[in-house]
Amino acid sequence: MSKKILMVCLGNICRSPLAEGILKSKVDDDIIVDSAGIDDYHSGELPDNRSMAIAKKNNIDISSQRARKIVAADFDKYDHIYAMDETNYNNLKTMAKTQEQRNKIFMIMNELHPGENIDVPDPYWGGEHGFSHVYAMLDEATDKILEKL
Ligand code: 4NP
Repeated sequence: MSKKILMVCLGNICRSPLAEGILKSKVDDDIIVDSAGIDDYHSGELPDNRSMAIAKKNNIDISSQRARKIVAADFDKYDHIYAMDETNYNNLKTMAKTQEQRNKIFMIMNELHPGENIDVPDPYWGGEHGFSHVYAMLDEATDKILEKL
């Protein structure tokens, strides 16, 4: 499997920073892992405090991350682009300009449950529990990604 992976959610402050941090904690430095958002609402911001807290509880520091919006060049630079939910996935498919770019886009939970199109639920408006649920889902999905690397 290829070596440059981009994790994508809506705001790049809750789910994809966790996906980035968890996968980075499992791979060597030769694997490039980054994350981005579909929207730029939160560009330049730190990850959500609740994402930083659940990461820290699992000995992962994501506090050096800053949110950014996905750019056209990402579709060429990265080998695998993982969407956290089906809306992100559909947006990414629309943004991609070529079939080669579209072929790089996957829903992350399909690594574990192929073809089921399970969303990593947006935890932004909920409580802490949502963040531990998201963490557990991403921990499992990134284990599967790791097996393929
Ligand atoms: P994320 O969560 O996509 O996992 O980063 C969200 C963060 C912010 C908003 C929505 C989702 N928002 O509407 O501001």
